[in-house]
Amino acid sequence: MSDWQRTHHCGALSSADEGTEVILNGWVHARRNLGGIYFIELRDRYSRLQVVLPEEVVGDLHVSPEDCLCIRGKVGLRGPKDTNPEHPTGEIEVIAESIERLAPSKVPPFEIIEDLDTAVELRLRYRYLDLRRPDMQRKLMHRSRFIAAMRNAFLARDFCEIETPILTKATPEGARDYLVPSRVHPGQWYALPQSPQIFKQLLMISGMDRYFQVARCFRDEDLRADRQPEFTQLDMEMSFVEEEDVFATWEGVLGDTFREAMDMEIELPFPRLTWCEAMNRFGSDKPDLRFEMELVDLADWVPNCEFGVFQSALDNGGRVMAIRVPGGGERISRGQMKPLEKQAKELGAKGLAWWKPGLEGGGAGPLARFVEGDVGASLLSRMGASEGDLLLFCADSEDVVWRVLGDLRVSVARQLDLIPAGPYRFLWVTSFPMFERDEQTGGWTSSHHPFTAPEDWDMKADPGSMNSRAYDLVLNGWELGSGSIRIHRQEVQQRVFELLGIDAEQQQEKFGFLLEALEYGPPPHGGFAVGLDRIVALTLGLDSIRDVVAFPKTLTATDVLCDAPAGVSAEQLADVYVRNTTTVTAGESEHGVAENPAPAGS
Ligand code: AMO
Ligand code: AMP
Repeated sequence: MSDWQRTHHCGALSSADEGTEVILNGWVHARRNLGGIYFIELRDRYSRLQVVLPEEVVGDLHVSPEDCLCIRGKVGLRGPKDTNPEHPTGEIEVIAESIERLAPSKVPPFEIIEDLDTAVELRLRYRYLDLRRPDMQRKLMHRSRFIAAMRNAFLARDFCEIETPILTKATPEGARDYLVPSRVHPGQWYALPQSPQIFKQLLMISGMDRYFQVARCFRDEDLRADRQPEFTQLDMEMSFVEEEDVFATWEGVLGDTFREAMDMEIELPFPRLTWCEAMNRFGSDKPDLRFEMELVDLADWVPNCEFGVFQSALDNGGRVMAIRVPGGGERISRGQMKPLEKQAKELGAKGLAWWKPGLEGGGAGPLARFVEGDVGASLLSRMGASEGDLLLFCADSEDVVWRVLGDLRVSVARQLDLIPAGPYRFLWVTSFPMFERDEQTGGWTSSHHPFTAPEDWDMKADPGSMNSRAYDLVLNGWELGSGSIRIHRQEVQQRVFELLGIDAEQQQEKFGFLLEALEYGPPPHGGFAVGLDRIVALTLGLDSIRDVVAFPKTLTATDVLCDAPAGVSAEQLADVYVRNTTTVTAGESEHGVAENPAPAGS
């Protein structure tokens, strides 16, 4: 070992090591000069340690914050007055015999402290300094522990970890592809995988009947707090299974993972709701079960009430539903109703009727005069409401009612602090619709992806009313993961492609290899993928996955640290037969157009 290398890290020492000669390596977290005696708080990934430097040891070395140091010395006990019982190394200090600067540091652009309040862009620009902060290091270590525990749980269940290609052909998951031009094949492009979906199905056909992978996925889509352009899935697939087998496997895996990584028992099995039940009760396919405020259908009450808007919504084939905000009558003022009404309208509602029931009938709100006497009493009993509550109503098409009340349910509960932070409330949502209308083209799109099996293999029903064998795992209002039982019958796969508007020629061009593989004894199979960034963020109580990704991108898909994406030289473009037709220089705009000048079919 070289003479500067550490014998211990900063967290490895305690009062039991009194008198031990040590070499430490780390960064200057803080320094103080108390009348000729210098104190340095030395920091590494494990802890912080107080180092005492007599003047003669310091000499003329000027130590700055974030310098990287080597300190040789002896462990001593702090005096009773200086002991810090709060800190793991608070009973000891290292009395330095020599100090050596391994590398100096410039003044960092922000302080390396726990509760840093600085612009995100700056943190990302100097991410390596941001990641020196102990809370960021704890997040990365939690991520590592969590993923390791999950891997172990799959390995213990006979799953085999297999890597699938990154340079591949498009796998449709509903986003745009990231494309990579080929040098060897002029005019041809690879797509980065949106998920390993097709390869994992091919692995089932290969007979590797239990596959998993910590898989990087790439999707060019609009970014949000829970979305990055590249992210990681814990992806898996199993053969000879039905939904319940996949659920049981994941419940076991997550139970083991929470126990191993977090020393926590989660409640098993997870409850299940069909998509239809979830929408009717919570107005959402990812309901947060930590609080109630369920949607109540008022169709059979509406005829008692003379508010014309309600009856006409029903007459038009729509629905009338309401939610009860406990205590909302007292806690939400008339003025605060305005933003809620605005929110409802932005979500497509024509208005937001509300009622704060009074002590003896009446009460306040636009609906008050329509709900006097028995009409109001029957509504109260229907809603389980009483004085002090607030009722919010929406009358519209089913889609709008679900969307508006589902959204208000969550935002009002947040506003009134009605959501308990603690518990993990997992939920399986099953039986999704098979297809959705594409609003732009008017054609059908898959609700999950085109490889998802229909509930009825015969596919006799109208596409709009077919259910699929897709399922989601929801945790506290977040979609954690998705999966499905797959189509293992070639003719059904072709029929689904047809319904999606992919004709026979395109099917061959895009998915011919899969259709062919389905001719060689494909086993019935199904699987699932969890967004690892999401589950790791949720288990740390974070709102954004950015904090659990070491080098994330901004909302404009930019890496501000290394300045990607960036322009490339004309030679590099020529190598891959790409011509740049944009006049904008690199970094100014992401709307450049790349043209491929290679002759067609070459
Ligand atoms: P899906 O597209 O639903 O399913 O993705 C599965 C899970 O991946 C996570 N996720 C993301 N996380 C961060 N950033 C993103 N941009 C992003 N997109 C998705 C979510 C999501 O639930 N092949 C199928 C799975 C299967 O059928 O087995 C698939 O990829 O947590
Ligand atoms: P109006 O009769 O249009 O003035 O509406 C009376 C109240 O009902 C107002 O508070 C509106 O916001 C509300 N409202 C109007 N249309 C709807 C609707 N479709 N669903 C729920 N509330 C509505």
